[in-house]
Formats: sequence, C-alpha cells, structure tokens
Amino acid sequence: MSTAVPDLMNDATARLRDAGVHGAGRDACVLLEHVVGCSLASLSEASYYSLPARLQHAFENAVVQRTARKPVSQITGQREFFGRRFKVTSDVLDPRPDSESLVLLALSKNFRCILDVGTGSGCLLVSILAERSAAIGAGVDICEKALAVARQNAERNGVSSRCDFRHSNWFSTIDRKFDLIISNPPYIDRYECASLAPEIRLYEPRHALTLGGDGTEAFRILASKAKNHLYPGGCLIVEIGSKQFEPVKGIFAGHGFDLDQVKRDLDGNIRALSLVPRP
Ligand SMILES: C[S@@+](CC[C@H](N)C(=O)[O-])C[C@H]1O[C@@H](n2cnc3c(N)ncnc32)[C@H](O)[C@@H]1O
Repeated sequence: MSTAVPDLMNDATARLRDAGVHGAGRDACVLLEHVVGCSLASLSEASYYSLPARLQHAFENAVVQRTARKPVSQITGQREFFGRRFKVTSDVLDPRPDSESLVLLALSKNFRCILDVGTGSGCLLVSILAERSAAIGAGVDICEKALAVARQNAERNGVSSRCDFRHSNWFSTIDRKFDLIISNPPYIDRYECASLAPEIRLYEPRHALTLGGDGTEAFRILASKAKNHLYPGGCLIVEIGSKQFEPVKGIFAGHGFDLDQVKRDLDGNIRALSLVPRP
C-alpha cells in the first residue's frame, strides 16, 4: 500500500511520543531521511506522495527500534560530532555534544603529540587531529571492538596516517610521553546508572559509563599515572560529570596537578578541565 510521507511522519511521531521519546518529530524525520538517503525536501514528488514499499518497510523497522528506545545513532549507525560524521555501534559511547567542550579546550593548547585514554569511537582524537594537520596521536581503550570503530572513524575522517589505536588498560601499553593527554573516562556513579534514560541504560556499553564505584575512580587512576606520560610543559584535559568539579579538582590537586582552565558545556556546567603537573 502506498503511503504519503506526511502520513508516515505523523504516525511515527505519535508512536514515538507514546513510547516516551523526547523530540519524537525530530527523530522520525532523522530516521526517515536516513532510510530514503536524502533530505525530505529533496525527495522526488512521486516518492513524497507515495513512498516505495521497500522504503516504508525500512522506515517501519527503524521506528520499531526507536520505540524500544534504541538510540537514533545506533539505528542509523552514525552521529555528527564537531562537524564530522562518526560511525557508531553498540560497542562505543554515542558521542555527546557536551564532549565538544573538551575538544575546544584541547584546540586552545599548543601540542604536537596527543594521547586519548578511553578513546571509544575515537570522536575526540579524530576531531582534534582533523583540526590540527601537523599533530599526531594515539588512542587507547580496554575494548577491542571500540578500537575497531575508532580506526574506521580515523579512516573516514582522513587522519588514519597520523594516529595509532591500541588496546590498553589505561596506560598499561603506553611507553612514551605526549604533549597533551585527553580523557573522557567512565564517570557515572553506579547508583545513578539505574536512573539513566533507557537509551543509555539499555543500549550504551556499560564499560563506557561506569567503573562500578562512585564515578571518581577513573580520575584517581588518571591523576596517579598521567604525569609519567607527559612531557615537561604538557597538560591533561578531562571531561567530568556536571557535579564532579570540586571532587575531581581535589583528586588532581592531591596528585600534584594545578587547575589550568575550565570549559563549560551548553548548559553552563563545567564539563572539561585542563590540569598541569606542578613543577
Ligand atoms: C565515556 S567513554 C568515552 C568514549 C569517547 N572518548 C567519547 O568521548 O565519546 C569511556 C571509554 O573508556 C573506555 N575504558 C573503560 N575502562 C578502560 C580502561 N581500564 N582502560 C582504557 N579504556 C577504558 C571505555 O571502553 C570507553 O570507550
């Protein structure tokens, strides 16, 4: 049966709203555009008023997944971050707009070699290298499947010749120093996990969200180990949770780091900190 795009959109929006999806209309539009492979405005008139059955079927499949609260990025397999497109799978954290604060803070520094600890999709490292053509970098992660995604994202965004992705438990396989170390580590308190939105709780990899404690463990590890991998004059930049500024600042102060700069996210929360080892 042929159905016009506005009818498909109205039906999908209502079903997504009933399933508790925020921004149901926007998501229905993104999913339909993904399925048809172009913007709705550039669809041919024939398709707009009678979408081919094959595409209707694919759209229905996407809507069913979204009503089960699967993140849009895992349905479409991609996400835009810092103006570039990244592959996303269930093995990596969905790149967050909040993390663009860390990228901006990193780009305000002078560096040639950079290490990304807990690289996931590689969105931070790849974005930074894409903006700094003379820089080189390495990304490490505990998850091999995430590293495979990061390598594809480096390739897709033209920086693969300047970065190396390797398996590592924090710094365990890192035997050199860097000008800049960045990390958006798992920082969610284990008790908070149960109250996260279904998109996160049910679909995002748990190893990317929490280490099972109060959310500060990763910062303690970074604070105790990062200094050995920084050149003199180097700096560490971390992303933090919206209520973690004071505790994280305290952890780094206790390990000989001074707070250098902070960067807020779009909601005004301090989201990224740069820290420098005390001489
Ligand atoms: C919050 S995600 C960040 C992913 C990506 N950097 C981003 O900003 O979207 C944290 C990442 O840390 C990785 N991770 C967790 N434990 C780790 C460990 N012991 N060593 C290295 N990476 C780890 C996870 O696999 C995950 O990819």
